[in-house]
Amino acid sequence: MHVLVIGANGTTGTMVVEKLAKSEQHLVKAMIRKTEQASKMEELGARPIIADLESEFDYALEDVNAVIFAAGSGPDTGADKTTAVDEEGAKKAVDYAKEKGIERFIMLSSVGADDPSVASDNETFHHYLQAKHNADEHLKQSGLDYTIVRPVGLEDEPAKGKITASKSLANKKGTITREDVATVLVESLLIDGLKNMSIEIENSDESDIVPALEKL
Ligand SMILES: NC(=O)c1ccc[n+]([C@@H]2O[C@H](COP(=O)([O-])OP(=O)(O)OC[C@H]3O[C@@H](n4cnc5c(N)ncnc54)[C@H](OP(=O)(O)O)[C@@H]3O)[C@@H](O)[C@H]2O)c1
Repeated sequence: MHVLVIGANGTTGTMVVEKLAKSEQHLVKAMIRKTEQASKMEELGARPIIADLESEFDYALEDVNAVIFAAGSGPDTGADKTTAVDEEGAKKAVDYAKEKGIERFIMLSSVGADDPSVASDNETFHHYLQAKHNADEHLKQSGLDYTIVRPVGLEDEPAKGKITASKSLANKKGTITREDVATVLVESLLIDGLKNMSIEIENSDESDIVPALEKL
């Protein structure tokens, strides 16, 4: 597939770009915000495109047939940026994808986004989960072939390669490496059984990543 990675310069996004570029099956376009990030993307084997989720960016979705959304405003910005990037930016990406007839849309979301009330005692976290929830619902209602990937807490450890994947994890307090999340996002593109599904993922000893996804 020809895949646009939104949030390509992020920690998880960069791993997604690298894995897509190394695979024989995909071409990669990397959406970044700054020109100085372009050479890193080229070195990884991706074609960079400069665009900002807070502006119009429909041109970034030209010539691709799949999108992986791995952007986020991060924990150090205020609620306004969470709304602008994680919610409105993601919704715009969905709308552009729909306009352009994109075949596949993979959304990196979070556990808790199905029910933000789980964080009703923490205003900032609740706002973040509500933004993710609203973006996910917009994608579900878009008619696009989507997969929403909701990891537990992210870690920067090396890949573990083994996960539990479920429609709803029994314990949502686990962890997962960003590298394994990146693998899930990339593999999800080509697994038809994941079309129009929301999945939760965590590291465990249960299964290699692809079989865990294929059995859902
Ligand atoms: N932390 C956790 O435990 C956890 C758990 C579950 C889910 N998640 C979700 O996982 C996602 C990825 O996490 P991560 O740590 O890999 O993220 P990250 O390193 O913070 O990367 C986020 C990326 O989004 C980009 N971005 C921010 N605002 C943008 C804008 N206006 N236009 C275009 N791009 C923009 C950033 O661009 P720059 O590089 O230019 O800054 C950055 O590349 C996040 O959405 C987060 O909500 C996190």
